[in-house]
Amino acid sequence: MNELGHLRSEGAVALEENAYARTRQEPAALQLKGIRRVYEQGRVGLEVLKGADLVLHPGEAVALVGPSGAGKSTLLHISGLLERPSAGFVFISGADCTALGDGERTAIRRREIGFVYQQHRLLPEFSALENVVMPQRIAGLGKGEAFERAGALLDMMGLSARASHRPAELSGGEQQRVAIARAVANAPRLLLADEPTGNLDPRTAERVFTGLMEIVRKSGLAALIATHNHELAERMDRTVSLTDGLLHEV
Ligand SMILES: Nc1ncnc2c1ncn2[C@@H]1O[C@H](COP(=O)(O)OP(=O)(O)OP(=O)(O)O)[C@@H](O)[C@H]1O
Ligand SMILES: [Mg+2]
Repeated sequence: MNELGHLRSEGAVALEENAYARTRQEPAALQLKGIRRVYEQGRVGLEVLKGADLVLHPGEAVALVGPSGAGKSTLLHISGLLERPSAGFVFISGADCTALGDGERTAIRRREIGFVYQQHRLLPEFSALENVVMPQRIAGLGKGEAFERAGALLDMMGLSARASHRPAELSGGEQQRVAIARAVANAPRLLLADEPTGNLDPRTAERVFTGLMEIVRKSGLAALIATHNHELAERMDRTVSLTDGLLHEV
């Protein structure tokens, strides 16, 4: 991964964070400060993100919109600690994750963040239930508890009758609902979803989105959901638009 180095001014950021923490009960689930991302293309750099800022509060569902190629996936990957920005800061639940090593970032990701991809990325050789159990076992939860919670989550997504099916034996909408159950299996504080209904027909998209919002509302987690669907965007608490490398409130 190519990094241009982080523009750090730790003192200033720490002060601002303290002031922020005092004004609110809980820290922001996600805060992005001046996020830049440059993809090196031979000699020319393609600057996809040019200083994006965002504050996402606990319990808030925010739609991320923007034209294809605007950098929504890039922004979500950076927010989910899957990629590093070229410059800027990523705070998860108030903690600056920018300069942490890979091990610590992975630990925070497992504990605090759920990620839903446009393609479900379920493990093909495991059942729906096992796919939801897996992240919990990795996080150290006992077998009984993990299976119980996985069952409850699949139930919540209307998939009890499909628990033993492998991904290939599920419809696209069902696969995506399993992926959502998996993403929230470890009770993350932040859910990031990259066009989770992008590949689905309107009716199925509606069902998946309803399930997703139900989990967001019941659990009080914060969600940032990229979508090209303005109808779905309007059902979230607010919308931010990514244009010319910056985030704007819509
Ligand atoms: N690994 C990479 N190397 C070079 N350029 C990349 C890389 N990944 C993405 N890009 C470029 O960065 C830009 C933003 O890509 P990104 O996938 O974040 O857009 P997006 O808003 O998610 O688009 P879509 O709505 O089509 O999913 C695109 O122009 C893309 O070509
Ligand atoms: Mg994308």
